[in-house]
Amino acid sequence: MCGIVGYTGINQALPILMDGLEKLEYRGYDSAGVYMNDGVEEDLVREVGRVKDLEAVVDKMEIKGTAGIAHTRWATHGKPTVNNAHPHKSNDGRYYLVHNGVIENFKELREEYLSDIEMHSDTDTEVAVQLIGKFAQEGFSTFDALRLMLSKLDENSAYGFLLVDSKEPDMMYVAKSKSPLLIGLSEDGNVVASDATAVLNVTNTFLELHDGDIAVVEKDKVTLFDKDGKQFEREPFILDIDPSQAEKGTYPFYMLKEIDEQAIVTRNLIEHYFIDGMPQIDQPIVDAIKYADRLYIVAAGTSYHAGLQGRRMFEELVGIPTEVHISSEFAYDMPLLSKKPFFIFLSQSGETADSREVLERVNKLGYKSLTIANVMNSTLTREATFSLPLLAGPEVSVASTKAFTSQIVVEMILASAIAGGQTELQDQLSKLAVDMQVVIDAKDKLKEIADKYLLNAKNAFYIGRGADADLTVEAALKLKEISYVQAEGFAAGELKHGTISLIEDGTPVFAIITNKSTAGLTRSNLMETEARGAKAFTIVTSDLAKSGDDIVIPAVENPLLSPLLAVIPTQLLAYYTSLGKGFDVDHPRNLAKSVTVQ
Ligand code: AGP
Repeated sequence: MCGIVGYTGINQALPILMDGLEKLEYRGYDSAGVYMNDGVEEDLVREVGRVKDLEAVVDKMEIKGTAGIAHTRWATHGKPTVNNAHPHKSNDGRYYLVHNGVIENFKELREEYLSDIEMHSDTDTEVAVQLIGKFAQEGFSTFDALRLMLSKLDENSAYGFLLVDSKEPDMMYVAKSKSPLLIGLSEDGNVVASDATAVLNVTNTFLELHDGDIAVVEKDKVTLFDKDGKQFEREPFILDIDPSQAEKGTYPFYMLKEIDEQAIVTRNLIEHYFIDGMPQIDQPIVDAIKYADRLYIVAAGTSYHAGLQGRRMFEELVGIPTEVHISSEFAYDMPLLSKKPFFIFLSQSGETADSREVLERVNKLGYKSLTIANVMNSTLTREATFSLPLLAGPEVSVASTKAFTSQIVVEMILASAIAGGQTELQDQLSKLAVDMQVVIDAKDKLKEIADKYLLNAKNAFYIGRGADADLTVEAALKLKEISYVQAEGFAAGELKHGTISLIEDGTPVFAIITNKSTAGLTRSNLMETEARGAKAFTIVTSDLAKSGDDIVIPAVENPLLSPLLAVIPTQLLAYYTSLGKGFDVDHPRNLAKSVTVQ
């Protein structure tokens, strides 16, 4: 999940590279590095820590040059140290390489080809650049040495490589398979980046790279080659994102901005998907899903949790049995499929390796699929039969919030469209957007609870029943991943079958109550924890609220939409707990925004 950015053109490269790294930090922030070469002097600077730590060093160095490459790392092989930071160089000092992905057979390659070469890091990336240096010394051109190195990689390897030959520093060599890389084209020069939003200040015109592609990027031209070394042309596309959307603005953290944006995102989805009051989904998608006898929703993390909500919508509105699976499990432990399966992939990034692995298998089996993602032109959208946009705008914070609620809204719109469309849905969603804003604006109470009961909590529980139970696992993940409080989401009725033994004096337990038929049962389960010392809280819709309830949210006409409101307090509780503990909310430890390794 590392971040890669490179530039060659007529402008100074360093500002472009450092700005790009800042925008790519969500992809990994263990260490960062930059290589610049102005044809006379060259500089390789690498630092452990955040991009700002690298900036502090680079700023003192007056580095010049109109070409360079840079990288911010999420460690896969080797701890976060300067030696393991990218760019890595060949021992003869000729080649500099940055890489995103995993070379599965790097140890074997090191033993077979590099046993006589001194290695300076624990990384798979250094093996790649030393191989290129070795093959070049044997007489291969840089292009052929790169291709020869690629041919040695295990087929399961994932890579986004950006290579510079110091003998021709204005040229960049790019190779991509399974790890995202794009080429940006502009009048003043060309850029390479893991994510377009990192270079939107340079251009919004991009060339997609597909698995196996190689590119030679010069300041005024780009040449594309397929995996057999044959040159080909590809039309660039324009990415229609306003650069300011990808900025933090006056917010302290992207996460708070993205929580705040959820009402607007819902309105955007209404605007996009409804015509004359009816949900509009391309007919081929509707027909393909109607033809199926079973739906399989496949996703990871928060997107998987959105699938748990979607299951109910498809079963209740469309009447097709629906299963929800974690991608990393489904790929290697596929259940007995129905005769006419249809697959729905949920993903913010569209690049999650675990989900891509499943899609590759589904494609090989010849089944149809739909990807619902926030980043269009991503691997999951490109390789599925159909795709639908989440239209949430760039989601930068590692903790997914607006993409989650957007996924649930799009699942609801899709299910409704397949069921023939419900005229009342547009009004329900419009009202929901208003209510979302009401809940979002009631932040103070959530901050108060977080400060008083969660900052020093050893663990915490969310409990609920039905759709609320499915929501508790998302609530718990948010709290865990950004505040490091061990939290569990639990079916309220199940707690007493064992886990209630973890309840101690002061253990925070939040009951999510939005369903009339189970409200009383959940309240009883909450009282069982309170009787054992828990500090009990309720997150409840106003139609079910009682005096003394802690967090009351507007009642929702359509129960399938309740989680869209109930999740917001849990997002804010996580945000304020992380904030109160002094953490970098947007960049939680050990995590990255887009998990492009399995
Ligand atoms: C979100 O809060 C998590 N950081 C993470 O679980 C994420 O949802 C998961 O990695 C899936 O990513 P995707 O939606 O881009 O596929």
